[in-house]
Amino acid sequence: MLGLDAAEGAMGGSNGRYEKFLRDLAGLYRDPAAFDSALAGDDGSPVYWVESSTVADGPGALTIGISVIKPGRIGDEFAMTRGHLHERSECAELYFGLSGTGVMLLETPEGESRALPISPGTAVHVPGGWIHRSVNVGDELLSTLFCYETDAGQDYGIIEEAGGMQQLVVATADGWTTRPNPDHRGYRA
Ligand SMILES: [Fe+2]
Repeated sequence: MLGLDAAEGAMGGSNGRYEKFLRDLAGLYRDPAAFDSALAGDDGSPVYWVESSTVADGPGALTIGISVIKPGRIGDEFAMTRGHLHERSECAELYFGLSGTGVMLLETPEGESRALPISPGTAVHVPGGWIHRSVNVGDELLSTLFCYETDAGQDYGIIEEAGGMQQLVVATADGWTTRPNPDHRGYRA
């Protein structure tokens, strides 16, 4: 049994943990001066993390976990994960909102883009073939439950090689919107 604590961003019964620190994320955000300023004031704690349960591998096995992103902004961009395409790109994934307010940014290598709100009680279906990234657009922890096929794999390079995702999730006076990323060069075929 897996005990989810959305407010703490923890999952009892997990057997894996992955953490990302701000210092690991150079180049992720489009405003280097704002990133350097944030890094100068950083307290050294993780900015996002994953706790997961994997009990088997091979075809058919599922990894279940909680993904947690602290709130924050770098320039006008909201705090986000690096994002990836599954190495076995046909593998889909489920996200279910537990706490906080977020956006699941979805793009295909061919250039389609969607930004789906995620909040407590909503489910987001990431179909196979879609690059995906979670973004915290609120002011509290964004906690989501996820489930994917254990051997799906993660390809982070597809985003890095393209100069970032095609769209940015940015702050407005009363919330968030998307705008094109001027550094995006198109995804590899
Ligand atoms: Fe994924």
